[in-house]
Amino acid sequence: MATTDKLQQLRERKQQAQLGGGEKRIAAQHAKGKLTARERIELLLDPGSFEELDMLVMHRSHDFGLDKQRIPGDGVVTGYGTIDGRLVYVFSQDFTVFGGSLSEAHGQKICKIMDLAMKNGAPVIGLNDSGGARIQEGVVSLGAYADIFLRNTLASGVIPQISAILGPCAGGAVYSPAITDFIFMVKKTSYMFVTGPDVVKTVTHEDVSFEELGGAETHATKSGVAHFLEENEIECLKNIRRLLGYLPQNNAEDPPVKPTEDPASRTEESLNHIVPDNPNKPYDIKEIIVKVVDDGEFMEVHADYAQNLVVGFARMDGKPVGVVANQPAVLAGVLDINSSIKGARFVRFCDAFNIPLLTFVDVPGFLPGTDQEWGGIIKHGAKLLYAYCEATVPKLTVITRKAYGGAYDVMSSKHIRGDINFAWPSAEIAVMGPKGAVEIIFKKDIEAADDPQAALAEKERQYREKFANPYIAAERGYIDDVIEPAETRPKLIRALNMLENKVDSNPRKKHGNIPL
Ligand code: HXC
Repeated sequence: MATTDKLQQLRERKQQAQLGGGEKRIAAQHAKGKLTARERIELLLDPGSFEELDMLVMHRSHDFGLDKQRIPGDGVVTGYGTIDGRLVYVFSQDFTVFGGSLSEAHGQKICKIMDLAMKNGAPVIGLNDSGGARIQEGVVSLGAYADIFLRNTLASGVIPQISAILGPCAGGAVYSPAITDFIFMVKKTSYMFVTGPDVVKTVTHEDVSFEELGGAETHATKSGVAHFLEENEIECLKNIRRLLGYLPQNNAEDPPVKPTEDPASRTEESLNHIVPDNPNKPYDIKEIIVKVVDDGEFMEVHADYAQNLVVGFARMDGKPVGVVANQPAVLAGVLDINSSIKGARFVRFCDAFNIPLLTFVDVPGFLPGTDQEWGGIIKHGAKLLYAYCEATVPKLTVITRKAYGGAYDVMSSKHIRGDINFAWPSAEIAVMGPKGAVEIIFKKDIEAADDPQAALAEKERQYREKFANPYIAAERGYIDDVIEPAETRPKLIRALNMLENKVDSNPRKKHGNIPL
């Protein structure tokens, strides 16, 4: 064959691969409001940076007439490219080819880029849009899934792994995204479930739609499986880029610095008046976060789930931090099962990837009730405690108001290796709230009083004056300084700079046994 013919053959093969399942199926994909696998990669990566691998890979199956349907690429586009100039690996399932279903060859392609990502220390982004196991391949497909699950697990804590669900993701297939660090879902077009509505109907007799059972809103609000809820695919891909801007390439690197015009010395007078005088009045902790961090930019994670705890990424003088904050505006900022799990996972992610933790505390304690006790608040609350205890990244804490009971200890207190712990003058650090405390310790005195209500109020006033402040903790050094709220940003930035070369470690072990 002449050289020009060989070139022509190559071009034709690649052209065929580019078309995936063909124009008709591409049109069907678009009609569902979905982009194709390649269009998604174009939007995700820096223009022109994508280098595809295994474009010519095909399956080797013969059963059920598959030998007559061999499409180059076999339902997944894989390769590498850059986001803001930084290397990432990507796989993008192509629903137009066998419904994006996962065959042996398809799985091998994904594993190949995961192995490259581990060797070269760069994130993996998976764009999922698949009917699940390639039914015709049977157990071989199951094996291919397991090969991916194993790699997801071994890569956990070594390189960031991000999943976007952009179509179906059902059955055991959900467990690869579930092991990754962050899951993005898109309203109306993505869904995840272990068993679909039909099986649910047969087994539990419940009538439930795809959307209600496993749609994006369900997982962003009810189950907490999704970390980010996106309006459409374009926003989703844009936000994956944004998220990566806070993350290092791997666990041996520091996160990337983004220069800012926002002065490190900026004070914020309005913070002096943000906490209401009435301790039972709520306020929005996010207002404090955006006033303290660079340029008011806060990328909230799990924004619609367990909103009594706020977590997300921001920068301080250009350097990424993970923010964890009780939210007094939701359930008074109490810690419950869901918020503990949400916080613990975020703290562990930040610790794994060298992202300092900035914790804002206003917590009345753990949520009482049979729901919580029977649901295991003991073991779930312990997750957050454990995560903070084992974290060795720089840990900064600001107590804005309440820090009561066990929740005081949990929220990055000095005792569990908080590096710098500040309190605002409005802080109340005590075993419990004044009313509950005096009702217990002065029960008899109050009952015996001529006017029990007045006696209770007086005892409460005395207790509040004595204990509901930051000074007893500060006298012991449990608080490094009581600061003017206006000075929070410069104080935190100086502390972060001071901690820049912090080294701390945990005892050698195979792994800990976090209460699961
Ligand atoms: C092979 C598949 C496929 C699969 C879809 N296709 N799923 N081929 N294996 N798992 C093919 C279809 O035959 C069709 O081919 C094309 O993909 C598009 O599918 P449609 O059904 O036309 O699309 P749509 O109406 O949008 O429905 C999408 C769907 C449905 C809801 C995902 O295809 C579906 O229910 N698929 C089966 C899902 C499933 O049960 N998977 C196995 C789950 S068990 P043509 O040629 O007509 O275009 C599992 C275990 C994983 O995944 C275990 C891991 C441990």
